[in-house]
Amino acid sequence: MRISVIGCGYLGAVHAACMAKLGHEVVGIDVDERKVNELSAARAPFYEPGLEDLLREVQESGRLSFTTEVSAAAGSTVHFICVGTPQKKGENGADMTYVDAAVSALIPHLLPGDVVVGKSTVPVGTATRLAALIRESEPEAHLLWNPEFLREGHAVSDTLHPDRFVYGVADGSEDHKAVELLDDVYAASLASGTPRVVTDLPTSELVKTAANSFLATKISFINAMAEVCEAAGADVSLLADAVGMDDRIGRKFLNAGIGFGGGCLPKDIRAFMARAGELGADQALTFLREVDAINMRRRTRVVELTRDLCGGSLMGQKITVLGAAFKPESDDVRDSPALSIAAQLQLQGAVVTVTDPKALENASRRFPELHYETLTDLALRGADALLLLTEWNEYCRLDPYESATLVSALRILDGRNVLDPSKWRAAGWTYRGLGRP
Ligand code: UGA
Repeated sequence: MRISVIGCGYLGAVHAACMAKLGHEVVGIDVDERKVNELSAARAPFYEPGLEDLLREVQESGRLSFTTEVSAAAGSTVHFICVGTPQKKGENGADMTYVDAAVSALIPHLLPGDVVVGKSTVPVGTATRLAALIRESEPEAHLLWNPEFLREGHAVSDTLHPDRFVYGVADGSEDHKAVELLDDVYAASLASGTPRVVTDLPTSELVKTAANSFLATKISFINAMAEVCEAAGADVSLLADAVGMDDRIGRKFLNAGIGFGGGCLPKDIRAFMARAGELGADQALTFLREVDAINMRRRTRVVELTRDLCGGSLMGQKITVLGAAFKPESDDVRDSPALSIAAQLQLQGAVVTVTDPKALENASRRFPELHYETLTDLALRGADALLLLTEWNEYCRLDPYESATLVSALRILDGRNVLDPSKWRAAGWTYRGLGRP
């Protein structure tokens, strides 16, 4: 099938490559010439495991191309909308500029029978509005909403082997030509047993925001428990293990630490609250304000704990922050709790060095005032305290004895609760976890 993918950021670039892998003929369209040039040369404009290999493989097959010309969408039967919906500046709501621009640019190229498939995370009600817009100029084209649930760092496998497909259709009925066409696109995954839920348009939009809100709530719940554990002298990691054994609760997303960040969870819960307010349902989501507040409090707490660890003052203390990305296997620093903590420590008088295997370029663009070091050993040298803030494998595997020979004081704060406290203490370190005694 001929497919166009509009927007080649995280979601779109991965989606385009995966659709070509499934055997479709795909054109990826983006207004950013630099991104298009990179992707055309089979280079990923961001770090995502497996993506470059996949780009190379499918480009060799001739099934994938990239362009800045939206007219290249003409002739495709299915058009995926994959542009971003960032948080508006100074407001909680989502900025819909890119979605609106993408759909408006696509409309003149639609033919009868074409299906526009929205994948971006949007405020509920958007799909119904866009469907009307499309109908006005091409009554025979259809809009379907098909939210994406991929995680950064696992984007390729999440796209090729998703947990489920959600299709939002105007009348909520499975018996629709657009459903049939999207089934053809995803035929391989559907044949392997991936479940598919067909809903009306608003439900499909809400599935995505509800899922991200639930994940954010789970993380803030365990971080709230970490606060209580700290006050009571209990251990939140053991608590999470024990509570998570109840399969109604589950252990996943119960890792207490410095909280959630990235380009999705924080902005999605805020946009959800803003949209609920517009719909007059704001009371239903006031708990998300608390979820957000608990999350932001983790960052302040780490600054306090670091001050404590350094003997009461941060002034002139050499602090090494291990990890800048919002999570491992990513170079994304959008709303990264690690970087935000590094910046706060620097503002309070510490001399901060940040290291990360992949995210230093993005981090230095966002916070040029921090000092960055590529090599872990060099970053550790002379440190008065280490802060493990993004759980890259190489930091989880650090050897306490070897590390001790590099630093000037044996102090470590484990912001992700991934180290074995007894091992580090046995090597002479003062170890602090979050919500652990
Ligand atoms: C999230 C969702 O997990 C995806 O399902 C969704 O498709 C995506 O947003 C999106 O909306 O596009 P992602 O932002 O890649 O994916 O990251 P997550 O793996 O959800 O992690 C988010 C943050 O939570 C990270 O900062 C991570 O360190 C933190 N986290 C995660 C915790 O602090 N504790 C946990 O137990 C789990």
